Formats: sequence, C-alpha cells, structure tokens
Amino acid sequence: MTGGGSGIGAAIAEGLCSSGARVMIAGRREEKLLQTVNRIKNLDNRHEIHHRKTDISIPEECDSLVKTVEHTYGPVDILVNNAGILCHGEVIENYTAEDWDRTFAVNLRAPFLLTSIVLPKMKQRGGGFILMISSDSGIYYFPNQVIYGLTKHGMNDLAQFILEEYQQYNIHAAALCPGLTATDMGLSLHPKVRENLLEAETVARFAIYIISQPDTVNLARPVVLSTMRDPGD
Ligand SMILES: NC(=O)c1ccc[n+]([C@@H]2O[C@H](COP(=O)([O-])OP(=O)(O)OC[C@H]3O[C@@H](n4cnc5c(N)ncnc54)[C@H](OP(=O)(O)O)[C@@H]3O)[C@@H](O)[C@H]2O)c1
Repeated sequence: MTGGGSGIGAAIAEGLCSSGARVMIAGRREEKLLQTVNRIKNLDNRHEIHHRKTDISIPEECDSLVKTVEHTYGPVDILVNNAGILCHGEVIENYTAEDWDRTFAVNLRAPFLLTSIVLPKMKQRGGGFILMISSDSGIYYFPNQVIYGLTKHGMNDLAQFILEEYQQYNIHAAALCPGLTATDMGLSLHPKVRENLLEAETVARFAIYIISQPDTVNLARPVVLSTMRDPGD
C-alpha cells in the first residue's frame, strides 16, 4: 500500500489488518508511517504491519519497495495504489511542465510501475488485486485541476487496462473514486463545512468491501463515492 501514514491510506491499512492481511505501508515521512503502525498494533498486537520509507516518484524506490514486501511477507497479493498529491488552482495555461512531471510521477507513473512489477508473480500465482484510490476528479472535469484530474482519469483507465489484459489470470483491478474527504489533503482545500466531507474510514470501508469480493465479481467500472451534502469547497 502506498501512502498509509495518513488519511485514507492509514484507514485502509487498519481495515486490511482487521481482515487478516499482512500489510506494508510506504510513504516519505517515516514518523507518520510509524504512528500508523503503532496505532494499528495497539488495537491488536496480532496485526501484522510494517512500514518502509519510500518516495514512489523515484522508479528505483518502487522496485525496492516491492522487494522489501517480498522479503518480509512473500509475493504481493493486494496492491493498493493510494498515495497521491494535489495540483490545484490554476487554469490550463498557468501550469508548468514541472507541475505535470511532479504530479504524474506520484499519481500515475508510480501506480503503473508498481503494477507492472507485481503483475508477473500475481500471474504465476493465479490471482491478485490491484486497487486504485482515484478521485471523483477522475470521473468529472472540475475546472482548475487539469493535471490532477488527468492523473486520476489515467488511474481509472489503468485499472481498465489491467482488467482487459489480466482478467484471464484471475487478477482483479478496480478504481475507487472518493469525493472530498476529511484528510490532510481534503482539508488543505479549506472546505467550509467540515462535517459534510466524507470520512477516511468510510472510504476505507468501501475499499475493503471491494477487495474482499469473491473471485467471480468483476467491478468493471470505477466506483464513485460522493458526499450527499455540499462541503462548500
Ligand atoms: N482527501 C480527498 O478529498 C481525496 C478525494 C479524492 C481522492 N483522494 C485521493 O486519496 C488518496 C489519499 O489521499 P488522502 O486524502 O488520504 O491525503 P493524505 O493524507 O495527504 O495522503 C496522501 C498520502 O500519499 C503519500 N505520498 C505522497 N507523495 C508520496 C510519494 N512521493 N511517495 C510516497 N508516498 C507519497 C503521503 O505520504 P508522505 O507525504 O509521507 O509521502 C500521504 O500519506 C490520494 O491519492 C488522493 O488523491 C483524496
């Protein structure tokens, strides 16, 4: 799982551990990762969770992250591409090549690279699950977030490509597209009505529900999870 030291990723890590999975969380801030590990272990010391300080915008770190997971637990059964960064607030003409490269490296290139690294062993073992934590920005076309939106549209399409090419090997892929959620990222957009946002735990419950479907179920389209109320963003 990428991310995991905060927000939606931390909530999914807890849900996965509670479902009996052995979990590796990865992010750049080691202290945040350790907080999540300690919190989840305090809930139940039988939970198996480790962390690895990783910057997924660096391709070599994606490789070494998977190696660490394999060394710790064995081959990856579930990959959750959750880590992401924002790139908001400008019309198309004002974004730079640097904005594009920085955002795509984390939000789309890393999920693509991690996916490509874990697929061969999933294929050999006859199954696996790759979940994208995308966004409603990957479904709609919100103004002033073209780069972020394109990365999330791309994540949704990556899930579809995985299905097209690997469904025959019992490899599942799905994209979960939350609306505004009360995490560091969501709150950094200064929504006016905090209580109208989704909670990270709600998004995580859907993530776990999607991952734990029987092998016969194919979630062939992105799942959008919106807030019923106006957060005033
Ligand atoms: N909050 C929302 O309103 C919302 C809505 C729709 C979709 N989403 C998506 O949900 C996902 C999780 O976001 P969140 O809301 O939980 O916000 P968050 O708390 O800011 O989580 C983002 C996570 O990504 C990690 N990350 C960022 N860059 C990274 C890098 N280069 N290498 C490794 N890890 C990196 C961060 O850890 P470090 O900083 O320690 O690296 C952090 O744990 C994102 O993909 C986001 O786009 C969020």
